[in-house]
Amino acid sequence: MREFNIAVIPGDGIGKEVIPEGIKALEAATAAFGIQLTFTWFDWSCETYHQTGKMMPDNGLEILKTFDAIYLGAVGFPGVPDHISLWGLLLPIRREFDQYVNLRPVRLFEGLASPLANKAPGDIDFYVVRENVEGEYSNIGGVQYPGSDNEVVVQQSVFTRKGTDRIIKYAFELAQQRDKHLSSATKSNGLYHSMPYWDSRVEAISADYPEVNVDHFHIDIFCANLVRMPEFYDVIVGSNLFGDILSDLGPACTGTIAIAPSANINPDKTFPSMFEPVHGSAPDIAGQNIANPIGTVWAGAMMLQHLGCDDVHDVMMAAIEEVIQRQESLTRDMGGIASTQELGDAIVAAIGNHR
Ligand code: NAI
Ligand code: MG
Repeated sequence: MREFNIAVIPGDGIGKEVIPEGIKALEAATAAFGIQLTFTWFDWSCETYHQTGKMMPDNGLEILKTFDAIYLGAVGFPGVPDHISLWGLLLPIRREFDQYVNLRPVRLFEGLASPLANKAPGDIDFYVVRENVEGEYSNIGGVQYPGSDNEVVVQQSVFTRKGTDRIIKYAFELAQQRDKHLSSATKSNGLYHSMPYWDSRVEAISADYPEVNVDHFHIDIFCANLVRMPEFYDVIVGSNLFGDILSDLGPACTGTIAIAPSANINPDKTFPSMFEPVHGSAPDIAGQNIANPIGTVWAGAMMLQHLGCDDVHDVMMAAIEEVIQRQESLTRDMGGIASTQELGDAIVAAIGNHR
């Protein structure tokens, strides 16, 4: 019997609505394979920040360390500045647990219309490999002479050899297993130091992967191309900022960002990895019971894959595909009228057909 302990952090807004649906799907899918998941819930969120002044307790990371994986909804809510909620919970987990890979698959499913004209399933099917612990997202910098005419703000980017090389290698490995085509996001014409360095590391590491075709695109034309010809791309590698941008743009081209999952992976398994939907807490629809849980279910499938249960992953993906294709029980963002639970129930029923 395989057993895993999962830390669950629903977080804020629709995070609290989609996570129960993800857990429902995980329980349905693992049952048939004799896998035991034990979920431990943590209410760490902007709400707890209001009560305690902290997004998570001081020993939060110590607590999470003991789990096999972390399953997260979303954090952030009006009333707490976004840099507080992110730097108080999500970013410390990603960084302290060395989850340096943010893996975000993007796929157009049968049954969902792309906002791009004449795109069919198969045309959009790529992975964004985003650097997840350094780069442009840094708290190094400061404000000098605040409030005066001489006010100066400096925000540093951090690109280490170790951090740059390991994400690029991960992307090459993935490209090697897929279509042997890697596209790197850059901006070496504007960012004088960091991006020429990034490009030079892609070039250097490509020597170890002679079968993989590599191309480079500046982030601006990359965004344009992703809309114009998404079928061109297979594995994309980008810095923290560029990967973040491309991994919202990609899913938007597949009909809704709400189906997209995000795996924060520590490939060395020295700490737990964390799995979450790409989307945020969506305060605009929170409490209405219309949030789409598919990104969360898909993230759960990636979690089981990371834990070595490919069989469970495949069943969950088959269920997602079936539900979308049947066009029943879809939420509003996908053109339907179903509630969050109705779509969750439909996924559980479909899991029953595939076990
Ligand atoms: P968002 O992803 O929460 O929402 C963007 C738009 O997509 C909204 O119109 C929302 O209604 C819609 N949407 C998102 N998820 C949906 C779902 N599952 N079903 C149906 N519609 C969905 O991004 P936004 O508005 O930029 O951020 C809101 C809050 O979430 C902020 O506090 C932000 O910092 C936080 N956030 C947290 C993230 C995380 O925890 N990883 C990631 C992104 C944002
Ligand atoms: Mg984002």
